[in-house]
Amino acid sequence: MAKYRIAWMPGDGIGVDVMEAARIVLDALNLDAVYIPTDIGWHFWCTEGDPLPQRTIDILNTCTCGLFGAITSKPKDEAAKELSPDLQGKGFVYSSPIVRLRQLNDLYTNLRPCKAYPGNPLNYKDDINLVVFRENTEGLYSGVEFYPFPDAIREKITQYNPRMSRFESTPADEMAVSLRVITKNGARRIIRQAFSYAQKFGYPTVTLVEKPNVLRETSGLMIREARDIAKEYPEIELWETNIDAQMMWLLKNPHDYGVIVTSNMFGDIISDLAAQLVGGLGFASSGNIGDNFAVFEPTHGSAPKYTGQYKANPTAMLLAVKLMLDWLGENEMAQRLETAIATVIKESKVRTYDMGGENSTIEIAEAVRELV
Ligand code: NAI
Ligand code: MG
Repeated sequence: MAKYRIAWMPGDGIGVDVMEAARIVLDALNLDAVYIPTDIGWHFWCTEGDPLPQRTIDILNTCTCGLFGAITSKPKDEAAKELSPDLQGKGFVYSSPIVRLRQLNDLYTNLRPCKAYPGNPLNYKDDINLVVFRENTEGLYSGVEFYPFPDAIREKITQYNPRMSRFESTPADEMAVSLRVITKNGARRIIRQAFSYAQKFGYPTVTLVEKPNVLRETSGLMIREARDIAKEYPEIELWETNIDAQMMWLLKNPHDYGVIVTSNMFGDIISDLAAQLVGGLGFASSGNIGDNFAVFEPTHGSAPKYTGQYKANPTAMLLAVKLMLDWLGENEMAQRLETAIATVIKESKVRTYDMGGENSTIEIAEAVRELV
């Protein structure tokens, strides 16, 4: 029996192409694993009304971890229109399968490393080496949303917070509300992950990015807990910054930052900017990590315009494989893979379109395969 069972989730669009690249490299590395194909993505929404069918969740429950390509998501109304005719009007509501996967499996840490590999013509500056820890299960992406806004909730909120009365005259169907839920446990565990990573890899600072001057309660809680946890790590300095200013500072002085920790939506935004500093979405990998399970994926989406063209840069996906190997404890293999990826970037003999080349997704994977 293989040592690892890995759920294989290519999804949609270029997700399929980059997962094919991942498989080429995994086979060359000889990881002792079986890869279990699963149904996930847009096709299953259209034909079954569920982009993450229960049978896929059942398979995930038998696996060590999962590898995910990308999925296509669309806003609620657009999604409803693309349902097959026999499913229309039956109450199916689209929700993103990757967000559900994170919540279902309590994958609370979203780890997003952004490293400027030498020789990458797309690096904004050399020597950038950042890691973003994004809380992955709560915050503004908790999924607690209302439209139209029920009168009963409005009345209750007004009772507890008079600021709500400002919206008194707005009709229920002219108002939408999304809750930003942050729990003490949720805050503490993501902040602790960031500090423990900083300690393990020798980063001198952890930067907590929030907006406590405006979001006094939710960001306030994050800051309070960060200060408390920081006491356990006297050798690491806690920096506190505001999300808006941080975006400017990150662009201006990316070398000042190492480990960044933040809530769900701010982390989503920061990590795309940080990805662009080191070559863009083709280089940005991420791990969704819980206490007993994890799903690794490139940060990018399904880039529908490139579907089936094998144009996408598989580096982000291959770096996600590297994160998976680290998480599995296959550190020597992870190191070998990262060195091979770095060499392919540095030598620049094969390059996808984003790097100014004409090579295919598969050709990059084959070049990496030769070096692992
Ligand atoms: P996207 O990440 O799919 O693509 C944006 C653009 O970035 C592409 O058009 C392409 O120019 C470039 N790009 C992305 N990945 C690349 C790669 N590997 N190599 C080279 N260039 C690359 O984002 P977009 O267009 O906003 O969303 C497309 C679909 O993907 C939507 O349905 C969206 O909901 C979904 N999405 C899914 C995600 C996931 O599965 N985790 C994350 C983000 C978006
Ligand atoms: Mg994003």
